[in-house]
Amino acid sequence: MIQLKSVSKVYRVGPVKVTALDGVSLEIEKGEFTVLAGPSGSGKTTLLRLLYRDEVPTEGEIRVAGFDVTGMRRSRIPHLRRAVGVVFQDAKLLPARNVYDNVAFVLRVLGTPRREITPRVMQTLKAVGISARAQALPAQLSQGEQQRAALARALIKEPALLLADEPTGNLDEAMAEEILYLLSDIWNRGTTILLATHRATLANQLKRRTLVLDGGRLLKDEA
Ligand SMILES: Nc1ncnc2c1ncn2[C@@H]1O[C@H](COP(=O)(O)OP(=O)(O)OP(=O)(O)O)[C@@H](O)[C@H]1O
Ligand SMILES: [Mg+2]
Repeated sequence: MIQLKSVSKVYRVGPVKVTALDGVSLEIEKGEFTVLAGPSGSGKTTLLRLLYRDEVPTEGEIRVAGFDVTGMRRSRIPHLRRAVGVVFQDAKLLPARNVYDNVAFVLRVLGTPRREITPRVMQTLKAVGISARAQALPAQLSQGEQQRAALARALIKEPALLLADEPTGNLDEAMAEEILYLLSDIWNRGTTILLATHRATLANQLKRRTLVLDGGRLLKDEA
């Protein structure tokens, strides 16, 4: 599902070079639930951004869900994004639209027939446990609910791969656990998951394969 070969990412900030990723090679199979761990600034978000081509690597090759991410034409990017769902630490919902519209928006962009949209959105909202809040604006939701809405938005297109960047970062322990439970549920239904977190305890608690980044290098890969 994911292959990286000697991937490096160097950011230039004025005269300063920042090496966010340094020669990372790894492989993740379809159907795996993998944790991407490492301290703040170790390159986790950078790696995820490379996977859905929000950024391009300075060096190396990347394949995701059958796409040659590094060599692909710009016009192919929407196809890649269709196969990859993304959830961020801050849910990044559209503030002026209610939960329903935040999720339905994705299907409208994909050109889904109108009569299919409502049932699919409601089913997905139900799956993440916020169908009762469909009419609420993001600001009217708790952080946990916002994160569920963001998950629904990522899942509505039925992605083969779900990238989650600190999806529990702003949540208290109980709510974080619920989101993790939801992720396990999504994984059980066949979605490949890559979950980035700097919370080492959380990474251990999950008892999944864990890739550890440090200073942009892949330090460990443990089952
Ligand atoms: N757009 C950018 N421009 C310049 N430097 C960047 C940029 N994005 C990230 N960096 C730098 O690259 C390094 C890795 O950042 P990254 O955001 O990938 O870390 P992270 O592991 O996600 O950290 P955190 O746990 O705090 O989210 C950091 O030193 C960061 O300052
Ligand atoms: Mg990050």
